[in-house]
Amino acid sequence: MSTAVIVTTPEEFTERWRTPPNFRIGGNLAQIGFEFPPAIDVLDAIRKDDEVRFTVLGTDDWAVRMDRTAAFRDAPIREIATWPFRLVHFNLSRFYDGLLHDFQDQVMIPWRTFVSSQGFTWQRCAPILFISSAGCSSTYHNDNSHGLVWQVEGTKTFHSYRDPDRILSAEAAVIGETTAEEPPPHNPADRLSVRMEPGELLWSHALTPHWVTTESPLAMSVTLSHGGLCHQGCYAERELALRSYWDKHPDEAWLRDLRTTRY
Ligand SMILES: [Fe+2]
Repeated sequence: MSTAVIVTTPEEFTERWRTPPNFRIGGNLAQIGFEFPPAIDVLDAIRKDDEVRFTVLGTDDWAVRMDRTAAFRDAPIREIATWPFRLVHFNLSRFYDGLLHDFQDQVMIPWRTFVSSQGFTWQRCAPILFISSAGCSSTYHNDNSHGLVWQVEGTKTFHSYRDPDRILSAEAAVIGETTAEEPPPHNPADRLSVRMEPGELLWSHALTPHWVTTESPLAMSVTLSHGGLCHQGCYAERELALRSYWDKHPDEAWLRDLRTTRY
C-alpha cells in the first residue's frame, strides 16, 4: 500500500491543496465529530428515499441483478447487506431532522468555519454519502469538486495517481474523458492507494481520476464536496481548466456536477 502525506496543520493544508497528489488529513485539523448510526441502519433508511441511487453488481446473471434491483428497497436488510452493490445519496439534508440530526452542527458548521478561517471561499459545500459491500468498486471517474473523504465504517481503499497530470490533463478531465467501470491499465507504481479505516480522512483533489474499492463486508463513507473552492481568490491549478471551459461554455456551468456525478 502506498503512503500518502498526512497533513496536520492549517499552514500545510493551505500549501498543499492547490496541486495533487491527494493527502491524508490527520491530527486535530478537521474538528468534526458525529456519531453515525451503524451503516446497516443508515442503509435501511436511505435505500427507501426517493433520491437514493444504487447499482446492484456482482453476478453475471442479469436476471438476478434485475430481481435484486427491484427488491432493493423492500427485501430484508440483512439479506441486502450480503448482495454486491454500491449506493450514493447526494442530498443528506433530507435526513437532518432525523437520522442525521446534529450533522449540520457537528460536521458542516465546524468544517466550514475552519476553511473560511483559513481564507477559503467556495460556491457549494455539501456532503455525499456512499455505502458499498465487499468487493464492489466505484466507477473510474473524476469529480469537478474537491472532496474531504471521511471513512465512517468498514474499510475502503481510495485509488488515485501520484502525478495525475501524467495520466490525464485537466482539460481532458473537464470534458469527462475519464469515466469507465474500471481504471485503464497502468503501472502500479504510478498509483496512490490509500487504505481508509474508520475515522480516517483524505483530501481528494478536484479533476483527478480515481476509483474506490470496498475491503470490508459493508463500508460507509461521507465526502464533503467543495465546488469552486478558492484560497484568497485563487483556484486550484487544475480547476483553472474548468473555469476557462465554463467561460467559453457558460450554458454547461455546474451541469456536470452534483446532479450528474458518476460514482
Ligand atoms: Fe469521486
